[in-house]
Amino acid sequence: MTRPKVFVTRPLPGNALIELRKHCDVDLRETESIISRDELIAGVKGKDALLCILTDPVDSEVMDANKNLRIISNYGVGFDKIDIEAATKRGILVTNTPGALTETTADLALGMMIAASRRIVEGDKFTRECRFEGWGPSMMLGVDLYGKTLGIVGLGRIGKAVAQRAAKGFGMKIIYNDPKVQADFDKEYGAKWADLDELVRQSDFISIHVPLTPKTRRMFGEKQFHMMKKTAVLVNTSRGAVVDQVALSKALKSHRIFAAALDVYEDEPRCPVELIPLQNVIMLPHIGSASLETRTKMADLAVHAIIDYFAGKGPANVVNKDVLKK
Ligand code: GLV
Repeated sequence: MTRPKVFVTRPLPGNALIELRKHCDVDLRETESIISRDELIAGVKGKDALLCILTDPVDSEVMDANKNLRIISNYGVGFDKIDIEAATKRGILVTNTPGALTETTADLALGMMIAASRRIVEGDKFTRECRFEGWGPSMMLGVDLYGKTLGIVGLGRIGKAVAQRAAKGFGMKIIYNDPKVQADFDKEYGAKWADLDELVRQSDFISIHVPLTPKTRRMFGEKQFHMMKKTAVLVNTSRGAVVDQVALSKALKSHRIFAAALDVYEDEPRCPVELIPLQNVIMLPHIGSASLETRTKMADLAVHAIIDYFAGKGPANVVNKDVLKK
């Protein structure tokens, strides 16, 4: 068989691309800038596989740039930028990189909960600006985390990893909203399923871990912010569009809720201007999985999906399993 041709949209950490080159002809787009649709279309032409990153918009036109495109390997767990239905219709396999980034993202979510509730970023800025004039009983008061109620929205791998840290490390009571009750999890963590309204009302901290779908888009809006505790902290490491940013900015500005910490935005990488002036929000540049170890593991998974596919072995982490049945 001739060597498969692969278009890779970004340089990746580690040695994964060296491995990919042993098996395939690799056309690597060397730049770190965001790829345009036109560039994607041009890159896919004549290729059998596409290795893209989670922000690359892979729609039907991109897929049709080469009728022989067989596999799209997504570097990332979230695949909301790929038109899965279109891929399935065309018999193109889509894979992603779950598992590798679970613990790293959960670590960050916990860090964000602590940072937002204890005003760590604000305190750092305050100190650097030489505004610290001495210890004071009422200076820079936050809210406690230990022993509080954590509402987890989306109890997948990352949601569970956050629950483990929160329950076992910080004595938090766990409630969660998920399409299904997870009895084993309930037993292990003394956790309880709750409908979204109940979760929003009862939680001191809310951590979002749902994929972006038509159902989860703007799941958090004005109504939810009005139901939340005044001392509540919202953390989002999933997808920006799950939260209505304008409604959030109003809730933060009026101190309707205590704080928020965001790693993701509705229209990335556009900086949400409405949030910039607010002290009670922490904004990170989508770094949930950004450790060298994890990004290297993700690269290995993404590359091996392509190598395994062309070697005739069913790749792991297939998103659209229906294609395998065809
Ligand atoms: C990160 O956001 C991912 O989906 O991997």
